[in-house]
Amino acid sequence: MRLSDCSSRVALLAPLLASSASAFYFPGVAPTPYKKGDLIPLHVNHLTPADSQNDPKLRSVFSFDYYHPPFHFCQPEGGPKYIRESLGSILFGDRIQTSPFELKMKVNETCKAVCPSVTYTARDAVFVNSRIYQGYDINWLVDGLPAAQLLRDPDTDETFYSPGFELGRVVGQQPTFNNHYDIIVDYHEYSKDNYRVVGVLVDPYSTRDSKYLEAGKGECPQNPDEAPAVLSEEEGASTSLTFTYSVWWIESDTPFATRWDKYLHVYDPKIHWFSLVNSAIIVAFLVGMVSTILIQTLKKDIARYNRLDQFVLEDFSGNGSVEDGVQEDSGWKLVHGDVFRPPRNPLLLSVLVGNGAQLFAMAGLTIAFALLGFLSPSNRGSLGTVIILFYTLFGFIGGYVSSRVYKFFHGESWKQVFVITPLALPSVVFSIFFLLNLFVWGRGASGAVPFTTMLILVIIWFVISVPLSLAGSWVGFKQTVIEPPVRTNQIPRQIPPSRGYLRIVPSMALAGVLPFGAIFVELYFIMNSIWFSKMYYMFGFLFLCYGLMIITSAAVTVLMVYFLLCSENYHWQWRSFCTAGASAFYVFASALLYWMKDLSFGSWTSGVLYLGYSTMISLLFFVLTGTIGFFASWLFVLKIYRSIKVD
Ligand SMILES: *[C@@H]1O[C@H](CO)[C@@H](O)[C@H](O)[C@H]1NC(C)=O
Repeated sequence: MRLSDCSSRVALLAPLLASSASAFYFPGVAPTPYKKGDLIPLHVNHLTPADSQNDPKLRSVFSFDYYHPPFHFCQPEGGPKYIRESLGSILFGDRIQTSPFELKMKVNETCKAVCPSVTYTARDAVFVNSRIYQGYDINWLVDGLPAAQLLRDPDTDETFYSPGFELGRVVGQQPTFNNHYDIIVDYHEYSKDNYRVVGVLVDPYSTRDSKYLEAGKGECPQNPDEAPAVLSEEEGASTSLTFTYSVWWIESDTPFATRWDKYLHVYDPKIHWFSLVNSAIIVAFLVGMVSTILIQTLKKDIARYNRLDQFVLEDFSGNGSVEDGVQEDSGWKLVHGDVFRPPRNPLLLSVLVGNGAQLFAMAGLTIAFALLGFLSPSNRGSLGTVIILFYTLFGFIGGYVSSRVYKFFHGESWKQVFVITPLALPSVVFSIFFLLNLFVWGRGASGAVPFTTMLILVIIWFVISVPLSLAGSWVGFKQTVIEPPVRTNQIPRQIPPSRGYLRIVPSMALAGVLPFGAIFVELYFIMNSIWFSKMYYMFGFLFLCYGLMIITSAAVTVLMVYFLLCSENYHWQWRSFCTAGASAFYVFASALLYWMKDLSFGSWTSGVLYLGYSTMISLLFFVLTGTIGFFASWLFVLKIYRSIKVD
């Protein structure tokens, strides 16, 4: 009975983890019904770098507007228009515009021409060819679905839709440019003469001989493979091409509700399980260690200290002998008069911890929301929007936490805490972001975030986040101060020099590796999705990893702080923050490793962008894990000193 109960629970859990895609998918958009012959808009998005068939490494991190002039893609009549998008979508790089392609529901077409022939100068050719070498992908959207290429997973032999299709292909040493698109649209008949789009594939190829006949008509050559379109880079040369497309409508059984499933393919689910089990073992081991070592020794310590108290009293009253081994007062109790002495630079620590609490709440709630399926890739841009929304709203938490911690540290510069808390992290992150964007602008790539979006971000920050943070600080300021359980001596105690792993750098190196171990596989997949423009949707795993990371950070920091206090060093505040935060250095190192392994930039500019974003992510991670470590240690220190008697 028990067993079956348990196994059914595991069975419930399994799909949740393996593919939150199908189990937890809320349709992002209401289905649009089409009748036969209805026009279905085809929108174009930016061109993104990707790994190509002959090159598994990524060569660039810049994306380009679809209508970036050297590409010469055909424009709709009256020029392309931007489609309105959410803030998150724009921040994550989407630039969606209208296109001249006409898809009519259930109307097959062969070789329609999009615009009269276009001409590439040698300069354009150099630009386009180098994008082909770098394996750029074209991204289209049909009825909200990305146009995909059909790929096969070599491990499972399953086919799936991989969003984006090739700009061109390198054949031998020669880049060939795709100027014909076979568009294959899957449709589902929902009710009579009521159809829905449930899948889009594009099979592009390159052909020199396609012709533009008369308005809107085109002609495809018989054997396209024999004469691919090659853009000539020779001095003074120019190449003329015609863009053509064919549309095939294929009936499908897939209902609208599950149309995203074939896009959300989980590569190698085993590795996620493996890493999860792996980190779970680490965590179990760690928590076991902490609970046995700490609770056992602490119990003994506390009993001893309290017993010692009695002995000391008896000693004073003149009788009673002291047992062996308990004569000297040693260990963490010795520093009771200093352990709650405010740290150096309490302002900075309070601000960091406040910002970290804000990040912590934002990340936790975002992942939980994602787990429930609200942020599936079908809701384009929802992830980015929700991150910004939560971060903005949790300004309150940031302010509250920083001012309470500051009060605990007996801080005096109240005005500064109030002002610096909402400004600190956002301004650093925004500056990095802004500089990197300037850089992208300067380079002429069009993937930069538009200036107006930046302005909106700043306005949101000042109008909503800053006031909320000030309000939070005010509420925190009004609260009574958290009383330390022991009094602080007037004169600071001498700290004996630390030895071995208790010195700051070794302790950071040792402790940081464990929280990193809990997340590094998921981190790898997240990096893949950021740099290779792949969708990320394994939020079930991410949720568990986040939980494991919190527990690991907390446990390892508490252990470190215990040893530190035992060595009579009471500077635990900054130490706990830095020890836990050290995992960020591992995150940064793994970004460098990832660069070596999976990326190979043709230009130093891509490298700068990559390093810039990696630094930003590591910085956020430092503040986040550092905060977890600080709070765990704070609770721990309060608890252990509460349990001893001090006269
Ligand atoms: C379109 O072409 C495909 C492939 O030849 C065919 O299976 C399908 O029935 C055609 N659809 C219509 C509506 O003619």
